[in-house]
Amino acid sequence: SSDEKKAMTEIHELLAKLYHHCLLHTKQGRPALEYLEKRGFTRESIERYQIGYAPDSWETASQFLQKRGMDLHIAEKVGLIGKRQSDGKPYDRFRNRVMFPIWDRTGAVVAFGGRVLDGKDEPKYLNSPESKIFQKGRTLYGLNLARAEMRQKQHAVIFEGYVDTIAAFRAGVTNGVASLGTSLTEDHAAILKRNVQSVTICYDSDRAGVEAAFRASEILTKQGCTVKISQMPDGMDPDDYISKFGNDSFLKDIIGASLTVMAFKIQYYRRGKNLRDEGERMIYIEEIIQEIARLPKAVERDHYLRQIASEFNLSLDALKQQQTQTTKQLQ
Ligand code: CTP
Ligand code: MN
Ligand code: MN
Ligand code: MN
Ligand code: MN
Repeated sequence: SSDEKKAMTEIHELLAKLYHHCLLHTKQGRPALEYLEKRGFTRESIERYQIGYAPDSWETASQFLQKRGMDLHIAEKVGLIGKRQSDGKPYDRFRNRVMFPIWDRTGAVVAFGGRVLDGKDEPKYLNSPESKIFQKGRTLYGLNLARAEMRQKQHAVIFEGYVDTIAAFRAGVTNGVASLGTSLTEDHAAILKRNVQSVTICYDSDRAGVEAAFRASEILTKQGCTVKISQMPDGMDPDDYISKFGNDSFLKDIIGASLTVMAFKIQYYRRGKNLRDEGERMIYIEEIIQEIARLPKAVERDHYLRQIASEFNLSLDALKQQQTQTTKQLQ
């Protein structure tokens, strides 16, 4: 019912305020605040993203909610509170974690992501489960904060997670959102398309991130967005890069140097190959032709085939033939 949804949101709003307070104004929150400061979080970014800290306690949240007259059964439904099997006593599910509120499009808190401080506890991120008010595949983290800038620029940058979005904001990317993990859905893409013309994907530079970027680029292209992909040095994510090389380099050398999807693939498949070796060169050309064959526009296919022909001194005819064969195999 809509009453239940309202209560669910209210519980999240109350806890977000509690956690934010605990982070900034309590002794228990000190280690978390120091952790964030060490990672470069500024006060401004802690405020903008309403970051908090869930104390190392089994009952802080449940007692707080009870005192505010909230229905713990509803808090249980949205995964904030657990019930002990032995006696049904409520306990807090988020303990000793940095808390990132997740908002819906109207700016109401509908979920949390909670990060461990020390990196030893598992999982690294504990996230709210899906609920009546939170569907992961329809939620873009930070959209409520970035929407105005996105629309004005007609451009969005999409990251994997909380920390990257926030680090990039510090660096000056005010139109950034995260897909929370690596699977961008059609709903995500449709939301982006309603707000912007073009999107830059800035996922982690590891295998999972690059593969997810390729999938996301297809989904976004299908929705009619113009897509670019940023590349960082191998193994780095945006937050790593900003910590190591600074804000200006991130804006100029990473965001500013993002490539069209095909240009990205052309250099990506090159990595780790010795193109002077004939065998490796042939594998590379085959991989690129596969990608070219999948391009929807004839003009684009022609453009990239010519580029390959000229770079490797091959006849355009031969490349075209091979591309036609590949196309047949794909069908
Ligand atoms: N994620 C998650 N659960 C995990 C790991 C990741 O929900 N166990 C989601 C989080 O939204 C996270 C994003 O996937 O922000 C990207 O994951 P990862 O690259 O592993 O984390 P980082 O964002 O780099 O976080 P940190 O820098 O704090 O390690
Ligand atoms: Mn505050
Ligand atoms: Mn990752
Ligand atoms: Mn990462
Ligand atoms: Mn990271």
